[in-house]
Amino acid sequence: MRSHYCGDVNQSHVGQEVTLVGWVNRSRDLGGVVFLDLRDREGLVQVVYDPDLPEVFDVASSLRSEFCVQVKGVVRARPDSQVNAHMRTGEIEVLGKALTIINASEPLPLSMDNFQNNSEEQRLKYRYLDLRRPEMTQRLIFRSKVTSAVRRYLDSNGFLDIETPILTKATPEGARDYLVPSRTYKGHFFALPQSPQLFKQLLMMSGFDRYYQIVKCFRDEDLRADRQPEFTQIDIETSFMTSEQVMAKTEEMVRGLFQELLDVDLGEFPKMTWDEAMRRFGSDKPDLRNPLELVDVADLVKDVEFAVFKGPANDAEGRVAAIKVPNGATLSRKQIDEYTKYVGIYGAKGLAWMKVNDIDAGLDGIQSPVLKFLNEEIVSSILARVEAKTGEIILFGADKANVVAEAMGALRLKLGQDFELLQGEWKPLWVVDFPMFEKADGRWYAVHHPFTAPSTVTAEELAANPGTAVSDAYDMVLNGVELGGGSVRIHKQDMQATVFKILGISDEEAQEKFGFLLEALRYGTPPHAGLAFGLDRMVMLMTGATSIRDVMAFPKTTTAACPLTDAPSLANPQQLVELGIDVTKAEKAAEKSE
Ligand code: AMO
Ligand code: AMP
Repeated sequence: MRSHYCGDVNQSHVGQEVTLVGWVNRSRDLGGVVFLDLRDREGLVQVVYDPDLPEVFDVASSLRSEFCVQVKGVVRARPDSQVNAHMRTGEIEVLGKALTIINASEPLPLSMDNFQNNSEEQRLKYRYLDLRRPEMTQRLIFRSKVTSAVRRYLDSNGFLDIETPILTKATPEGARDYLVPSRTYKGHFFALPQSPQLFKQLLMMSGFDRYYQIVKCFRDEDLRADRQPEFTQIDIETSFMTSEQVMAKTEEMVRGLFQELLDVDLGEFPKMTWDEAMRRFGSDKPDLRNPLELVDVADLVKDVEFAVFKGPANDAEGRVAAIKVPNGATLSRKQIDEYTKYVGIYGAKGLAWMKVNDIDAGLDGIQSPVLKFLNEEIVSSILARVEAKTGEIILFGADKANVVAEAMGALRLKLGQDFELLQGEWKPLWVVDFPMFEKADGRWYAVHHPFTAPSTVTAEELAANPGTAVSDAYDMVLNGVELGGGSVRIHKQDMQATVFKILGISDEEAQEKFGFLLEALRYGTPPHAGLAFGLDRMVMLMTGATSIRDVMAFPKTTTAACPLTDAPSLANPQQLVELGIDVTKAEKAAEKSE
């Protein structure tokens, strides 16, 4: 039906007859000449219909937006005065000779020009139309280029693409599972995989040694701009490779993607320990484009009168950290109050501050509500520690270390944006040496997942000191986004059993949940390590989108629903009987489907 894509017609086709198909982006009748912008996935081209072919002209005059049409015509150069430099096909136009309306369109329920006028709900309900917008089309085309380049890289490096089950048993990655009821085993459920983690480890045990899969993962968790209930990983696993080698290989892949698709050289990625990242940036995924840093001052304020500082400064789990902001002395009380509210979201109880009005004027040059609690020596030691200069403001967080990191880490990002401080376009890094476990509600949780190996300790040492153990795990971070994460895995049964024990998983529960893994570890398991990238996040960053929803063809809303298909929906009662399921609380579901 077509000879060329609309967006591909160019100077080299001048004089040729072309057959194009696509959608009417716009058509205008300008003084007896119809100008039609025809659109397909590759772009737009201008088609002109003159009245000298009256039958064709009449059809052209009847066109409306989004009609699906076929055009035959001859390509001609536009006169210089009409060249459109903003359009890829702007040097030419097609003189229309024939026109067929393949299918008319009713007026669209979405605005194609001012898409900001469409609500997110509307855009998702009519996603197939929303995807006609060139911006959206281009993002999905780009995504396809990314997966193609990823496959080329991994294929040529000996990685085998092997599929793993979707109907499976729970894989703990820290979220809730999506469950699928079994008809044949009533009362039993499959879990959708939160990742292929356990299967890829089993594949290493089978000897496949380099595996990858571009694979859907399912996690029932609170959604955000970079989180969806169903998302795609570039999942990788290797045997007989160290963490350093896995990082080098996958870094090479990402560097190659940026080079090939964006012509950007990311250079070598620096490595930073988790400790350093938390200390300097209050985050395990620091955005290194932001020059602000947290500076610890607890040792300077151990003996002050001010309880807000003194308490955390003398608490082994406490922290007092400062951020200085260039030009921050211009902040008004109201603005400082707003920042105080902002850190409150992250659990901070306040935000002490110090304006440096004149660094050479001693205490007279400093303005601060906490000045009365601090003597000159302490103030000048703080100023020296943060290397304060006139015109800056210093903001303080004092609390438990995790609260300070979270609140001041978030504040750092906000200040970076508000003061327009971001430098450079791309700042990748590896974060390494994560703690094995973190404590919450009096019990230990795996920081990565329970199959991650500790760096150096034996199983006995780990059991004795879980709190200080460092894992052989690594995250790739780009511009403050966790692009991917992985680890060396446990390949010895005693270590795996020890980790389960530390996590409070009883022998019985470990057998029930992971018995197959523990058994597999008995049959000559090779050392193995791997990593998974969030493909959606990668494409989001590479295309400059602000949400992963904008790089997914059919994403869910922030409340994990699909307005297009109206999923999830109530099940038919007969199906429920077959599944042996009795829904007792359908109020929520009923409400939704009204
Ligand atoms: P992890 O849980 O860190 O590791 O996930 C790997 C990467 O997947 C992306 N990601 C998500 N993207 C969109 N929506 C989500 N809800 C979501 N959750 C995670 C992130 C993240 O870095 N099995 C391990 C990997 C391994 O150890 O090999 C795993 O799944 O970019
Ligand atoms: P207050 O003693 O509550 O009047 O607080 C004095 C100053 O300390 C105010 O500027 C508060 O915002 C600040 N402040 C209170 N709690 C904290 C905290 N946990 N961390 C940092 N600053 C705080």
